Amino acid sequence: MNRERGIVIAVDGPSGAGKSTISRALSKRLGYLEIDTGAMYRAMSWLARESNLDIDDPLAVEQFAQKARVELQLDNGTTRVIADGQDVTHKIRTPEISMLTSKISALSPVRKAMMTLQRQMGAKGGVVLDGRDIGTVVFPDAELKFFLSASAEERGRRRFLELQLKGVDTSLEATIENVTKRDRQDSERELAPLRQAGDAIAIDSTGLSIDEVIAQMEKLYYKRISEKD
Ligand code: DC
Repeated sequence: MNRERGIVIAVDGPSGAGKSTISRALSKRLGYLEIDTGAMYRAMSWLARESNLDIDDPLAVEQFAQKARVELQLDNGTTRVIADGQDVTHKIRTPEISMLTSKISALSPVRKAMMTLQRQMGAKGGVVLDGRDIGTVVFPDAELKFFLSASAEERGRRRFLELQLKGVDTSLEATIENVTKRDRQDSERELAPLRQAGDAIAIDSTGLSIDEVIAQMEKLYYKRISEKD
């Protein structure tokens, strides 16, 4: 694989472990492109809801996955999520879409379409991809893999604070329950379940600040780069 722009960094882990925030900051520090694969699945579920997709109809799901267009556009340092030409960046961050995404992302045609896109986007390297199956399925040969986790309570608390800032009306208990339920669905599904790749470096971010986690990752990145040279 041609890696003229840098390596592929995979950041997998359960919901609320801080993957997106940390991947965004890490990619900025390294001058890498960040690919939030969860946002891509969220955009697919937004489109599925818009078109009243019957997820129990295999033919309809196949046609939907072939037709749906999801793009991540870089706009002044922030990533915009575009679904069939519409900017859905903020609309996909609701508890309802989170729950639906956990279902939509278990469908084989949807995973196939997203995986193809993600492989194209990361083919040249210089990318940080965050998701659930990056190190296990999408880029099993990624040069650096992290598995980021934190306790369910801490993950629920972080998600709750995020939602509060956005003005979403929910409770801490409901958010912890939502996060735990989604993790169970994501880990127990047949296709590309959430699990740690054998060669991934596990980081438990419970009680650590974002900066502390990024510093650990950066150190490991430069170590890996120096081993390659
Ligand atoms: O990271 P997130 O919370 O935005 O992800 C939303 C959902 O998408 C999550 O429930 C699992 C799914 N997902 C996936 O199946 N594979 C990925 N690579 C990323 C996300």
